[in-house]
Amino acid sequence: MGEKGTVWLPEGVSTLAPEIDSLFYFVFWVSVVLFLGVVSTMAYLAFRYRRRSPREIPAPVKESTLLEVAWVTVPVILVLIVFNWGFKSFIALGVAPPDTYDIQVRGRQWLWEFEYPNGTIATNELRVPVDRPVRLIMSSTDVIHSFYVPVFRVKQDVVPNRYTNVWFEATRTGEFDLFCTEYCGTQHSGMLAKVIVLSQGEFDAWVESGGGDLENLPLPEYGAMLYQQQACFTCHSTDGSVTIGPSFQGLFGSQRQLANGQTVVADENYIRESILDPQAKLVQGFPPVMPASYSALNERQVSALIAFIQEQQ
Ligand code: CUA
Repeated sequence: MGEKGTVWLPEGVSTLAPEIDSLFYFVFWVSVVLFLGVVSTMAYLAFRYRRRSPREIPAPVKESTLLEVAWVTVPVILVLIVFNWGFKSFIALGVAPPDTYDIQVRGRQWLWEFEYPNGTIATNELRVPVDRPVRLIMSSTDVIHSFYVPVFRVKQDVVPNRYTNVWFEATRTGEFDLFCTEYCGTQHSGMLAKVIVLSQGEFDAWVESGGGDLENLPLPEYGAMLYQQQACFTCHSTDGSVTIGPSFQGLFGSQRQLANGQTVVADENYIRESILDPQAKLVQGFPPVMPASYSALNERQVSALIAFIQEQQ
């Protein structure tokens, strides 16, 4: 297996990957051998014992004890090997070593939020140190999501009202895909994130910096950052295309036709209310699917988003 992985599996970038992969390939090759063996024997026998004339009557078949014992014991042995191997890997995946670095993960419609021990929070970018076991303590603020990083060979449901966890130890630095693999609503397929594996030094510096000093940016730039971070882009475009929600292009100052028949002007107060209480003034033609979770944004963040929307003309 090279750096790029194979047709069957992507590159493995965690300490557990070789174990998972060898089990996968064992099951795979056993299946290939059995499949070819069964199908070719079947084809051969069908040809060998084909009916040669309409009046041909075959001799009675006598069972072979040896054959019957073989086709019971060989599969049982194979299944026990796979069970034993799989159970060991399952335990290794499930039980984290004692000295892990812990990160809190929150899934919500439709983004991932990561919180580090010193309070640093990041969205849709999970930074972890290389060569160090990392444990994720995961929860959901709404529906069931699933945390999946193919190169680490870890996948775990993220559910409301309880914690689940995974652990992994990355074996090289780089940037890798993180997917949500549980259907969680209209923008499930857009719930994409990155895992960024850094050297211990780079990682420490990043965590110490609090993930970059966003608070001091000018409002429109801070808003642009929040537009990405809070995953507004999954539902609201800035180029006029209509997806789940209205596009931000030309939104500010325009007349909005509401579902209840009224018309309002999209000024600062209207946008503020629509962020904090999305169902208060629903625009005609759009479903009431915006999560209420944005009410957790602080005043400066709301102002920043309004300033950003104002610029999308
Ligand atoms: Cu979250 Cu699918």
